Amino acid sequence: MNVRTEIRTILFLGTFLPIILLAVVNSGCETGYSNEMEGTEDAVLTSAPNVPPPIIRNHPSKVVVHLFTKEKIGRLADGVQYQFWTFDGTVPGPMIRVREGDLVEIHLSNDPSDMMAHNIDLHAVIGPGGGAASSVTPPGHTSVFSFKALHPGLYVYHCATPPVPMHIANGMYGLILVQPKEGFPQVDKEFYIMQSEFYTTGEFGDSGLQQFDLQKALDERPSYVVFNGSVGSLTGKNALTAETGQIIRIFVGNIGPNLISSFHIIGEVFDKVYGEGGSTVTEHDIQTTLIPAGGAAIVEFKTEVPGTYSIVDHSVFRSFNKGAVGQLVVTGKGNELVYSGKQADEIYLGQPSVNNTSDESADDQIQTNVSTQQVSAEETGQQIFDRTCIACHQSNGQGIPNVFPPLAGSDFLKNNQKTAIDFVLHGHSGTIMVNGKAYNNVMPPQPLDDQQIAKVLTFVRSSFGNKMGPVAQKEIEQIRSAKMISLNGDN
Ligand code: CU
Repeated sequence: MNVRTEIRTILFLGTFLPIILLAVVNSGCETGYSNEMEGTEDAVLTSAPNVPPPIIRNHPSKVVVHLFTKEKIGRLADGVQYQFWTFDGTVPGPMIRVREGDLVEIHLSNDPSDMMAHNIDLHAVIGPGGGAASSVTPPGHTSVFSFKALHPGLYVYHCATPPVPMHIANGMYGLILVQPKEGFPQVDKEFYIMQSEFYTTGEFGDSGLQQFDLQKALDERPSYVVFNGSVGSLTGKNALTAETGQIIRIFVGNIGPNLISSFHIIGEVFDKVYGEGGSTVTEHDIQTTLIPAGGAAIVEFKTEVPGTYSIVDHSVFRSFNKGAVGQLVVTGKGNELVYSGKQADEIYLGQPSVNNTSDESADDQIQTNVSTQQVSAEETGQQIFDRTCIACHQSNGQGIPNVFPPLAGSDFLKNNQKTAIDFVLHGHSGTIMVNGKAYNNVMPPQPLDDQQIAKVLTFVRSSFGNKMGPVAQKEIEQIRSAKMISLNGDN
């Protein structure tokens, strides 16, 4: 290059470089983002149902995530413990939030008291094993690796140390959100929910420390299906709360390890669903969204009407009998145009022509009663309660305010033993007063034999702080036969 050329080059760069640079910056400004990596920060980690705050940076950064693994005994349900394997001591593990384009540096430490090696496979990672091979960590060690968050969306992470299914089944999973660089639309509240199964040697509700049952896991027959790691993690005092008129976003993961979730909120419609946890809205006006095992979804909806909303897997035996139920309690002013509430309660005597009273159906009933009696002898009152009553009256006997009356400290239960037996036997519809409050709801007759009713009522009368006497099987028999006589017109 001669002097003249050099001068030309300098002149050229002097004139055009600022313009070129300006153009680069401007191309960022047009969209409001820069692609240049700037700064380092520690990730904010939150325990479910809490979500880390939105990231408002307009550029990628290096984000350092510190996680540790810990094997510990914890609560799976009231009176039921399990030897969990965890990230950060919780099931699910913490939620991680990074931004599209971030360089994420994972530091995984394994507690020195752990028995097993652990690692982490994040579904947001592009690389073998999602980071698993780079993060195998024996007890008392820390592994470090990094990845670039190339794909925005909601991803599951889990331990992937052999035997992988067992590390997952014991509780090692969580969610990582890679926030799109343009961010999500602003909402009023965000929550983190993760569905999973537990395979225990005992059945649902069997008390004491439960062991992992490999055969049940192979058969895909869980004893528990739960949200956020335990029965009751999102009900009663743990319920999610919101006010009417708020827009709610829920980040939902499903780790399985076997089942697909049919995620639904009873009494809500999802205005938007980011299908399978992708970065864009794929569906509007959705009742139930399918979440694969090892997948996620983001749902959004607006609260309109105050009340308690059940969050369920709509494969509903899982919700009513295996634990997969949460609550969203919405307070505030209602909108009677959106929902009127009950406007009438009138007597209906049914269609006499379709009431089947043939001998055949009576025979079927006797057959059912015989087989029920065979299993009822070994069942405890608590087990019957967990199977039959818990969905409405809740695991702590507190019921659901204004919907299902409490059994804990219930003056009704204390003063109306015969009526309570009659309700369990024959069901009840209409208003009852419990502790000065009116409850207007329907309780169906319970398919229980006399022995089971005596057991469950005795359990209820001596649990939740209640100190009422036991109920004898004889009392049930008397009330059952009295009702049959009155139905037959013999009284
Ligand atoms: Cu593990």
